[in-house]
Amino acid sequence: MSPNLVLIGFMGSGKSTIGRRCAAALAFRFRDSDFVVERAAGMSVRAVFAERGEAAFRALESEAVRRLASTLGLVIATGGGAAMDAANAACLRRTGVVVHLRVAPAEVVARVGSARTRPLLSGVADPRARVEELMAARGPRYEAAADATVDGTGLLPEETTRRVLAAYRAAAVAWTWPREPVPVTAGDGTP
Ligand code: S3P
Repeated sequence: MSPNLVLIGFMGSGKSTIGRRCAAALAFRFRDSDFVVERAAGMSVRAVFAERGEAAFRALESEAVRRLASTLGLVIATGGGAAMDAANAACLRRTGVVVHLRVAPAEVVARVGSARTRPLLSGVADPRARVEELMAARGPRYEAAADATVDGTGLLPEETTRRVLAAYRAAAVAWTWPREPVPVTAGDGTP
């Protein structure tokens, strides 16, 4: 039985785009944790943040991660903060190869800017500075949670997909069930 492929990384790194392509290549189903949250909440991620607050969003996200990680045959794209929670990361690692998709801050800003759909960036005076600050805090924690990192900066989606699939296959070949949870950096709880 093959492990899932889990994509973690910053918003705008292409997790959904690359995840869909990988799912097609592997004949896995594609799932997006933000979408599972939206279905459970009956509202958009942005509305959950605005009406119920970030803590409520994170609780729904953890629930979504648990549900997704308990199913096999999936490519799972996670929201950018999902793997910041040590329990979420351990849960995803138990049944999936975790690939950190990285892109340089300038490319993140070019892709998402201060998009209103990204609550952590909307209304921010200097999105570039905010992206750099968040990425500096999160980068080591993505690395600690991942089996491999793929840098998609400046690459076409085809090439990024090829690299992610290569990383997945290399880790999947060595996979044995059950994979023990690997300790991840606990962090300070800040997403
Ligand atoms: C978040 C990233 C978003 C979404 C929410 C919080 C984050 O997902 O889960 O806005 O904390 O980085 P994407 O990474 O798909 O944009």
